Formats: sequence, structure tokens, C-alpha cells
Amino acid sequence: MPSDFLYLELEQWLLKGIQDQRWRLGERLPSIRTLCREQNLSKATVQHALRRLEAQGLVEGRPKAGYFVSLKPEAVKKPQSRSRIAAPRQAAVSDLFLDIMQRSAAFDLLPERQEGDLPPGVVALNRSVGRALRRQRGQDHLYYDEPAGDLGLREQITLHNARRGWQVEPDMLCITSGCQHALFLALMACCERGDVVAVESPGFYGVLQLLEQLQLQVVEVPTSAETGMDMDAFEQVLERWKVKACVVSPAFGTPGGALMPVAARRQLLNLAERHNLAIIEDDIYAETAFVGVPDPLKALDTDNRVILCSSFSKCLTRDLRLGWISGARWHGRILHLKLITQLAGSRFLQKGMADFMAGGSFMAHLRRQRNELVANRDRLIAFLHSWPGEVRVTTPQGGLAVWAELSPHVDTLAMYAHALEEGVVMTPGPLFSVSRQFANCLRISFAHPWTAPRSDALSRLARLLNTQ
Ligand SMILES: Cc1ncc(COP(=O)(O)O)c(C=O)c1O
Repeated sequence: MPSDFLYLELEQWLLKGIQDQRWRLGERLPSIRTLCREQNLSKATVQHALRRLEAQGLVEGRPKAGYFVSLKPEAVKKPQSRSRIAAPRQAAVSDLFLDIMQRSAAFDLLPERQEGDLPPGVVALNRSVGRALRRQRGQDHLYYDEPAGDLGLREQITLHNARRGWQVEPDMLCITSGCQHALFLALMACCERGDVVAVESPGFYGVLQLLEQLQLQVVEVPTSAETGMDMDAFEQVLERWKVKACVVSPAFGTPGGALMPVAARRQLLNLAERHNLAIIEDDIYAETAFVGVPDPLKALDTDNRVILCSSFSKCLTRDLRLGWISGARWHGRILHLKLITQLAGSRFLQKGMADFMAGGSFMAHLRRQRNELVANRDRLIAFLHSWPGEVRVTTPQGGLAVWAELSPHVDTLAMYAHALEEGVVMTPGPLFSVSRQFANCLRISFAHPWTAPRSDALSRLARLLNTQ
């Protein structure tokens, strides 16, 4: 068994022991040394499992004394999905999103960029892109790339995804300018103005913006932070309204970070077939998975109706602006729409990325990044448990953010301006829904290295919460 999974096994074993009251509230868990010996595990694995339990508020580490049970397991509540389903409506996205983007602070708490070294993966990428630039010859600069994008890069994306159970021919891929562009092409290809599109709720605000621009109607389907879109609710939606497409993120979608179980994925595909709708899979977070990258929904698509959209923005760099789309039965139309919306992509960037992947640097970068993300996530969760009032936090197994549900009276939209005065940019819950639900929720990112300015920013937010 890959060592990646051992800490999860130990975590589950300890959790069960607490649930079965083998160790009661206030009692000490076996020491790290005992756990290493009895479970035949390394010290790092045992410490990791204990830190995860601590991050969930179940145990408390006391210096030189060990770990003690600090909460009854039933007291650790998870954010709940809401089950109310509103009729389809026109999306109207708050200007707040624009404000956050103008501050260049999506996925960050700080409006000012922090100094620091480039991660080794980005250094290697820059070298590959530099090489690609130097290899430009003669009259290359006088020609546009073909609409589908660089074949070498499409081949690398094909190879990379084959390990996840998805066999895609390079001919069925089209390179885009990021995942947002891919989602735009997907919606344009399979919907017409006024059509109804089902989305996760809470779900990605970027999709809501596209739906607003394309004048599509939105129906929100309750989505849990553990298992993703609620398939029973989705079935109810399909029985009540004619839905043309559904946008889902089965792997660690933002903000909840859920991993959709295989049974739910199959149910989704069956419903799509029965009601003849397009599924637009946003796969952008899959490669951040902390324990084994899940197969895409697309790998189960025997009916050619799942359009997969993704990019390198979350697993490598947002600055590359390279993504891809596999358009299923709409692929031809998508190629044409790519031509209309972008004409062509930059060839040296694509060739640089292909070189980076072919040389093995991408895989090495992903391995490093996962370890850093897990450590950042655990630190963030432990920190949030010290916030005042009621705080329920997700523990995602991938992605870049946690979803925090605060005391019911908290209004995160109203807090936004006050937080800005304190030099902190927050991402209020209502941004993730067209019906402005989730007023007492916040998405908080762990994408950035854990530094003193960021933990200070979180403390300032905690003080603001206290004043609410
Ligand atoms: C779920 C999701 N999809 C798509 C995007 C857009 O990605 P890109 O930078 O590749 O356009 C984002 C960015 O935040 C996202 O969170």
C-alpha cells in the first residue's frame, strides 16, 4: 500500500477508538513511540495522523505530555448542505468578485503580494519556456497556431491523464486560455440563451459569471462538502425543469472541496442520459489530490456527453493561462468557438509546457506541492479552531481552500469592507450562490505558504468576528 494512505488508516483507527470510547474525553492516547511500534509505522506518519485529528479539534497535543482526547466525536460537526431548491433564475454576480480580482487577491487574504523565492517547479517551467523561445526559427512569428493547439502539448496531456483511467486521443483535446475559457466554450457550445443550467450550491462564482453573460438561467443544486452535488436533489430538479447542462466539479470543487463518490458519479451519468443533458466537468483541482489523483467523471462517460475542462492554474501556476477542453459530441463546435474567441494560443508557451511535462518536472512538482498543501491545510484548520464562536471547517482531501461556516448571526458580506480596512481581503460565502445563501460562510485558502503576515491576517479576521 502506498505510504500516502497509512496516516489516513491510522487516523480512522484512532477516530474509531475515540468513538468506541477506548479513549474517553480527557484521556491520553498511546504515545507516538507506542503507536510507531504497535502499528509498525514511521514517526512522521503517526505525527501526521495525530496532527490531522488535532486540526479537527478531536485531540489536543500537550508539550512533553502527548495527545489527549479533547472533544467527543459527535461534537465535531461538519458543514451541512441545504436542501431548499429555488426555481431557475437569471444570475447576477456581485461586483465584489471584480473588486477581489482587481486587488489580485482571489485565493489570498492579502492585497499585497508577498516576496519569496519561486518554487522549484516554476523555476523548471520557466527554463522550459525559455528553451522553447530560443528554439523559435525563421518565420515562426508570422504564423498562428492551429485552433486545437500544439500537438506536442495535447500528447503530453493525453499521456498524463492515461494514469487516471482516462484514455483520450490528442485529437479530442483543444488547448484553451485557462479553465475559465474552457468553461465558456463548453457553455456556448451546448446551450442557447434562456436555457437552464444546473450548478453546485455553493459553487464556483466564475461559472455564475459566465451564466450571467450568456443569459442562461441558473438552478442551484445543494452540494455537500463531503460528497458533492446531491443526486436526489438533482433528480428532483430534472423532474421539475428542462435542464440543458449541468456544471460539476467531482474532484475537490470550490468552495466545499468534496470528492464525489463513484456511485454518485454513475447516478449523475444515468440522469444525464435519461434527461438528455450535457455534463460540464470542471476538473481543475484533481491534480492537487492529497492521496491519489481520482479518475475523472469523463473516464466513465460511455455516452459521449461529458465535456471535461481543466487547466494548469491550480496545480502549477495561474500565470501560464493554459487549459484544455475535451468536448465530447460538441468537440467540432468547440474548436470553432475557440477560433472565434481566441484565434490561437501562444506556441512557445505550449511547447515550453510540453517540454516541462515530457522531462518529468511536472510530476516532481506535483509531488512536492501536495506535501506542502497538506501541511498548509492542517495549519489553517488548527488555527481556525481557535477562532471565536462557532466555527465548522471542512477537511478537504484536495483543492486549495477550506469552507468555514461561522455562527449563524455572522454576515460575511457586511464584514468585507471592515476586513479591507484591516488590510485583509476575504471571500464571503454569498459569492458562491446566485441566491446569496451562505451569508455566515467564508472560503479560506491554504494555497500560499503559511507566513506570519497571513496568520496575522487571520487573527485580524478573528477580531472582526468578535465585534460581530
Ligand atoms: C473551480 C474553478 N474552475 C475554473 C477556474 C478558472 O481557472 P483558470 O485560471 O484556469 O481560468 C477556477 C479559478 O479559480 C476555479 O476555482
